[in-house]
Amino acid sequence: MNEKLRAAVIGVGVMGQHHVRAYREMPDVELVGFADADEANRTAIEQRHHVRGYADYHQLLDEQRPDIVTVAVPTVFHREVAEEALSRSIHVLIEKPIAELEADAQALIALAKERHCVLAVGHIERHNPAIKLLKTLLDAGRLGPVYEMHAERMGPFPARIRDVGVIYDLATHDIDILCYLAGSKVAHVYAETQQNIHSTREDMLSGLMRFENGITGVLQINWLTPAKVRRLTVRGGGGMVVVDYITQDLTFYENGQALDNFQSLQIIRGISEGRVIREKVEKREPLRAELDNFVQAVREQRPPLVTGEDSLQALRIAAALIQAGQEHRMIEV
Ligand SMILES: NC(=O)c1ccc[n+]([C@@H]2O[C@H](COP(=O)([O-])OP(=O)(O)OC[C@H]3O[C@@H](n4cnc5c(N)ncnc54)[C@H](O)[C@@H]3O)[C@@H](O)[C@H]2O)c1
Repeated sequence: MNEKLRAAVIGVGVMGQHHVRAYREMPDVELVGFADADEANRTAIEQRHHVRGYADYHQLLDEQRPDIVTVAVPTVFHREVAEEALSRSIHVLIEKPIAELEADAQALIALAKERHCVLAVGHIERHNPAIKLLKTLLDAGRLGPVYEMHAERMGPFPARIRDVGVIYDLATHDIDILCYLAGSKVAHVYAETQQNIHSTREDMLSGLMRFENGITGVLQINWLTPAKVRRLTVRGGGGMVVVDYITQDLTFYENGQALDNFQSLQIIRGISEGRVIREKVEKREPLRAELDNFVQAVREQRPPLVTGEDSLQALRIAAALIQAGQEHRMIEV
């Protein structure tokens, strides 16, 4: 496939408009159109990007016959829109989370397989260069045995989000990242949740994830904080790494007494302050990296970095956290 891939975007609200912009910047992609049910959104994007907008996404798919489509409508509509694209054998990138219900996610994964289509999901933090570097450091054993990962994702409540709570909307980012970095299945979860501002769903999560390999994942996620925080702290025998997702900075606090090659936490002889290293991160827009990875997966007919199965796993854990919060008990995953 040497010619340009024909791309379309369905849903050009807060997130979808960035997909429009990013596709337009890609030399090997031609943005052939977009769809949005809202006339004001349509007009704004048409004027800014000089691309034809459709009110009806069926018409967009029928007339423009794209090769690839981003689905960025609200989460509750992901399945119906993605099914229309996949049933026409169009490769799909769905914004995260893949769906609200596991059954919907499973149906989409099965349809993509049947149609031999790439199904990528927009867990965008996987494409954050600071996370890519952290994964390299972990794989190289620089942190020694990891015992805890602590994700903080907080900010003011975005009033437009009415279809899902903070666990599906925000925590799915961190659940996916923790699973990816831990390299292990989650055994069980516990959570306390609160509903303060959102009319129907939880807007605060204090969660715990216990991985089968012994790592503890801590999730502090809410829509109640006046400042935007997007931070991950990973602690191991070799020290502590703090990633700021927004600035894409990675700081490594070394354990001054760590051995070069320890096998388990038992042989840590002591903890002391070591060097503090601000690692060099090659900064890059995560969305552009995500779309490049999607396009490459389509061209090379291989799985994308974040698959439908990955997102389904995040969804299952998210559902378990919601249940744990409602029932105040540990839930097996
Ligand atoms: N990856 C990220 O960091 C990130 C960030 C924000 C949102 N998202 C995800 O993106 C999705 C959209 O969220 P958003 O914040 O952009 O929402 P939004 O409400 O700002 O935008 C959704 C758009 O979809 C349009 N729409 C709804 N139904 C439609 C239909 N049937 N046909 C055509 N258009 C339709 C709406 O008119 C609206 O413009 C959600 O799944 C959300 O979880 C991901």
